Amino acid sequence: MLENFPYYNTNKNGTSNGLQIRKLVLFYVLLAFAATLFFTVLILYSPNPFSNFIFKKNATTLSHQSPLKIDPATTMNPKKESNDEKIKCDLFEGKWIPVPNGSLYTNWSCPLIPNSRNCLKFGSENADFINWRWMPNDCELPGFNAKTFLSIVRGKKLAFIGDSLARNQMDSLLCLLSQGETPEDVYTDDLDHYRTFYFPSHDFTLMAYWTQHLFSSAVKIVNGSETAMFDIHLDRIDDNWAQKLPILDYAIISIGHWFNRTNYLYEGGKVVGCIYCDEPDVPNVGLAVTVGKAVGTALEYINDCKECKALLTLARTFSPTLFEYGSWNDGGKCNRTSPSTEKQADYDFLMGVRNFQVKEFEKIKKRTTDGKRFEMLDITRAMMMRPDGHPGTNSHDPSYRDCIHWCLPGPVDVWKELLMFVLQNRDGSIGDRDH
Ligand SMILES: *[C@@H]1O[C@H](CO)[C@@H](O)[C@H](O)[C@H]1NC(C)=O
Ligand SMILES: *[C@@H]1O[C@H](CO)[C@@H](O)[C@H](O)[C@H]1NC(C)=O
Ligand SMILES: *[C@@H]1O[C@H](CO)[C@@H](O)[C@H](O)[C@H]1NC(C)=O
Ligand SMILES: *[C@@H]1O[C@H](CO)[C@@H](O)[C@H](O)[C@H]1NC(C)=O
Ligand SMILES: *[C@@H]1O[C@H](CO)[C@@H](O)[C@H](O)[C@H]1NC(C)=O
Ligand SMILES: *[C@@H]1O[C@H](CO)[C@@H](O)[C@H](O)[C@H]1NC(C)=O
Repeated sequence: MLENFPYYNTNKNGTSNGLQIRKLVLFYVLLAFAATLFFTVLILYSPNPFSNFIFKKNATTLSHQSPLKIDPATTMNPKKESNDEKIKCDLFEGKWIPVPNGSLYTNWSCPLIPNSRNCLKFGSENADFINWRWMPNDCELPGFNAKTFLSIVRGKKLAFIGDSLARNQMDSLLCLLSQGETPEDVYTDDLDHYRTFYFPSHDFTLMAYWTQHLFSSAVKIVNGSETAMFDIHLDRIDDNWAQKLPILDYAIISIGHWFNRTNYLYEGGKVVGCIYCDEPDVPNVGLAVTVGKAVGTALEYINDCKECKALLTLARTFSPTLFEYGSWNDGGKCNRTSPSTEKQADYDFLMGVRNFQVKEFEKIKKRTTDGKRFEMLDITRAMMMRPDGHPGTNSHDPSYRDCIHWCLPGPVDVWKELLMFVLQNRDGSIGDRDH
């Protein structure tokens, strides 16, 4: 090391100048030592060492010091509003920054990772996708903490309502919470569509309720055979989840991808439209409008549910599929090894789907009743930058290119940081944001 020090070799003869140079060297050596000591102490005594010097931002914008508002209106309108009393913080606009170790768990520490999401186990050597952290532009997102989360949800019941991405989200939460307490696996059905875990020391119940469309729906039968299409009844809610609502304290709605195929939409038993069909007398309503309507209808149903508790409902916005070089069937893949900074080709389309969901969400938020609360987990934009976070071919079956679900651990874990933030700040500690 010292050989490379610029002045060292030129003064080894001990000239009068040499003494000063040696002092200078000594000074730098001591300085380096002090700096090393400082950072070592920082690393040893900090729960998340890197957060201290990478993430610390201007204190006035620190989340835990200010009554933050998560307001989708700000999300839709990039211009930030803020005043002295309430700083509006849009958690969902920001960037991914590299960190030395971005994961709170590994495939070793969490035995509950399904093989199909276990990218560390089946993937290539390149595990860079875990070494990124989401950083909102205007405030700090505190890291996930299992003990804190469990203490917030003590005695409560939380369900992820939706499809395999809802389940993906629940599995991520399970891995994160397993750091605080090992859950008991108390219930699963034959298809593993309904699942219940229980955290006995915290009396916390975590569940998955399966539903493809939130609405009542069935595989479309044509000429006596099942097809890949669905008949979806926009005027009927899927009882499989709706009937189980009254026990919940928290509901997280997480749907979208089952709408991305040819589907027929019904009202009063009659076809009123479709998604991706090509028939002269059936209007093609499109994916975005229908996904928006699904979320809006579900939130309205929850709001009107008389037997329900004053529950907190979160709706997750559309989770992007990030195929490149083709689609699911024709050689498409998601083989990037780092976040993308440029806009995806289908950015506008995906944001369009998300915007319809946000619009429906805002409608219902204006007229909540009985203490029910609604929030948005507006992850579309953040996840669009993470084509590297899908399993791709890094799963137990390499012939299967999965650019829809997310690796565990992986960028999907940030949804739980956002969730924890919302629970923490909406559960009394910061107060009622509507006033
Ligand atoms: C934060 O930044 C603002 C404006 O840049 C400044 O006025 C304020 O004093 C800063 N606060 C702290 C605690 O540094
Ligand atoms: C990253 O951090 C997690 C949690 O602290 C730890 O379990 C894991 O071993 C770390 N991974 C690496 C590669 O250091
Ligand atoms: C975890 O992943 C590594 C590869 O990164 C693999 O060798 C190991 O078998 C995996 N362990 C478990 C328990 O999945
Ligand atoms: C169903 O049967 C009708 C009459 O036999 C035929 O015209 C139509 O093409 C069939 N549809 C499909 C999807 O096979
Ligand atoms: C819908 O599915 C197609 C075919 O798999 C895929 O290419 C496309 O990205 C999907 N769209 C969305 C919005 O997920
Ligand atoms: C991803 O696949 C494309 C097309 O096969 C290839 O051109 C590109 O180099 C690959 N990228 C990486 C990072 O492997």
